[in-house]
This record gives sequence, C-alpha cells and structure tokens, in this order.
Amino acid sequence: MPQTRAYLDHAATSPMPEPVLAAYVDALRTVGNPASTHAHGQAASEALEQARDEIAGLLGCDHAELIFTSGGTESVNLALKGMYWARRRAGLGSTILVAEGEHHATIEAAEWLRDTQGATLVWLPIDGAGRLAPETLSSAIAAAGAAEVALASFIWVNNEVGTVQPVAQLCEIASAAGIPSHVDAVAALGQVPVDFTRSGAAAVSVSAHKIGGPVGVGALLLGRRAVADPLVHGGTQQRARSGTQDVAGAVGFAAALRLALAPTGAPGNTALARVTALRNSLIAGVRAADPGAVLRGPAPGAERAPGNAHFTFPGCQGDSLVFLLDAAGVSASVGSACQAGVAEPSHVLRAMGVPEAEAAGALRFTLGAHTTADEVDRLLAALPDALRRARSAGLA
Ligand SMILES: Cc1ncc(COP(=O)(O)O)c(C=O)c1O
Repeated sequence: MPQTRAYLDHAATSPMPEPVLAAYVDALRTVGNPASTHAHGQAASEALEQARDEIAGLLGCDHAELIFTSGGTESVNLALKGMYWARRRAGLGSTILVAEGEHHATIEAAEWLRDTQGATLVWLPIDGAGRLAPETLSSAIAAAGAAEVALASFIWVNNEVGTVQPVAQLCEIASAAGIPSHVDAVAALGQVPVDFTRSGAAAVSVSAHKIGGPVGVGALLLGRRAVADPLVHGGTQQRARSGTQDVAGAVGFAAALRLALAPTGAPGNTALARVTALRNSLIAGVRAADPGAVLRGPAPGAERAPGNAHFTFPGCQGDSLVFLLDAAGVSASVGSACQAGVAEPSHVLRAMGVPEAEAAGALRFTLGAHTTADEVDRLLAALPDALRRARSAGLA
C-alpha cells in the first residue's frame, strides 16, 4: 500500500505490527482474573506467566525478577522511590546519583525524593556526545562516600540523541562500591541487546509501546537481591506491585519483543542493519540538504542507537520545523518534551554543552523496523522548503 505520510517518530511510540495486534486482540478475549483459582482464572494465569517467561528469557532475567507495570514511567518511579525507601529503612545512605540528560521520569522522581523524602541529589555530568564516563561515576562515589549512596540511576540509550551508555562498566563500578544501579532501558529496547543479568544492574526499566507493543504496559526487572518498597498498596499480585495483572498487555508485550528481537541475532537477517543503513542515508541526505546541520550525539557506530538521527539546524526553531514537516506529510519531533505547552531548549542538549540558541533548532528523526526508504525520501524531499520557511520565519 503506498504510504501517504512518513512516520519518523518511533522513539515517541512505535506502531503495532499486525502479528502483535492479532496476539493482543486475541488475548483481550481472555475471561478471568489470573489471581482466581477457578479454571477461567487459571487459564488467564497461564497466559500471563507464559508471557512473563518469554519476556524474562528474552531480557536475560528470571521469571521472578520481572514485575509488570503500566509502562516506563511507573517502572522508573518504582525503581527510584522503591529502592530509596527500602535502603533508608535498612539504615543505608540517602544520596542519589543521577546522570544529567535523563528522561523526565527519572529527573522528576529523583527531585521529588530530594524535595520531600530527605534525599541528597548529585547530578553526574555527561560529555558533549551525551555519554556518562565511568570515571565520572567513580569520582562521584568517592566524593559522596560509598556508604552514603542509596542508589545510582542512568539511561541505557538516550531517547533524544541516541547515545549508548557503557552500562556494564557503570554498573560494575556501582556494585563494586555496594551501590545498586537502576538503568532506564526504555529507549534501548530493540536497539541494543538488553540482558539484565549481564548488565549488572539491580533494576532495569522497559516499556512495550516503544517496540510496537501496547501503550500502558511495561516492566521493572528487579534483581532477586534488590528490594523496592511498593508505590501503591492493595494486593500481593506481584512483588512490590499491587493490582490485577493485565494479561492481554503482557501477551502483547511478549509478542512485540519476540518480533523486535527475533531477527537481530541471526546472521544475514538483521533488521537493525537495514534500519542503520536507512538511518545513515537519512543523515547523508540531511547533510546534503543543509551543510550547516549539526548531528548531535555520537557519530554513527556502536555508540549510537541504530534508529536515531538528531540534528540542530542553525537559524531555525525546532518546533517550526516539526510544524512545517507535518504539513508536508512527515511526522518528526523536537525530541524533548514541552514544559506546560511551551517548547523549551532540550535539557539533554544543554547538559551536552550545546548553547541555548543552537539547541532551539533541534529535530529528531527515529526509525523503526518497518520504516521504508520511501519515508526517508519523503522527508528529504520536504526538508529544503521547510528549512527555508523556518529560517525566514526566524528572521521575521
Ligand atoms: C528513556 C525513556 N524513559 C522512560 C519513558 C517513559 O515510558 P512510558 O511512555 O512507557 O511511560 C520514555 C518515554 O518516552 C523514555 O523515552
């Protein structure tokens, strides 16, 4: 079917592929609460636990380490607040180490802990490519004193500029000092291999809708020895998380993950290699359209998520470009969230040392497994006119 629009905003949410939709819809027909002991309940429980097993297997954790949540935001909140409370209850330190340029779920949960729960918050600077250097973490632990630190939190892949963090190294440094790490892997899933046990993290957050699963479904992978106090109370359905479990959501998540990860391990059948090649041609095309465009984040390669291309365009406002491209049939994003409806320069770019005026011209393109060359061509055809108009609007 010819595509009438180009969707280049997979990091915001990724469309649900047909096989996932079919599995999800079929599971929505399930009758019964998985906590019920009758036959309906047991059938629901079997579907739920099968999905848990499959996701746990694909993410390198044990069945009992996977807690289903309502998405990435809840997972991050449960990890930060839950682990902080549990550590404080055990008489351990109150300092939280958080990398700069994190998603707002992490930033705001950490700030809430600082403002209301007595936490001391230490921000860990990132470099010009958005990377948290292992030495930065080591120095922060030494400066705070390991015994004073409740937990450390950092992102696996930056959702704006696509930087892949050296997660295993960072987790190793933290755990050598007796500090549990939480890693936000929401933007990493489907882009780089996410293996919980090999990461060395105490907790990892993931979300289904970024890989074509249902919105409102996610998971916190919480190591057996890690303790997180619950955010909400009212049942004992899952360790640290109460509430009737969403069978269809879990089945949809498992189907999406199976599809997203299936091709990546098989030589000669690499969906990610195709995405990387398309992304690289997008980067080359954007550079040809505007030699002044600056690619933000790491150079294309192992340190950059395959589906991410993020630019700043001098003399343009990113939100004007989003609007103009939208009118031309292309969905893209400035990458950062609006604050109360007002476009603010990205806190990620600012943390990377990008001046405010340059950060205002940010535009993020994110590709998925089903992105086509036609969609990239549509962008490249629309971009010169959008740039010209955005620049003349800026001058006016
Ligand atoms: C890095 C990162 N963390 C957390 C979230 C929140 O995930 P959810 O939309 O599932 O609540 C997002 C979503 O944009 C994200 O990109």
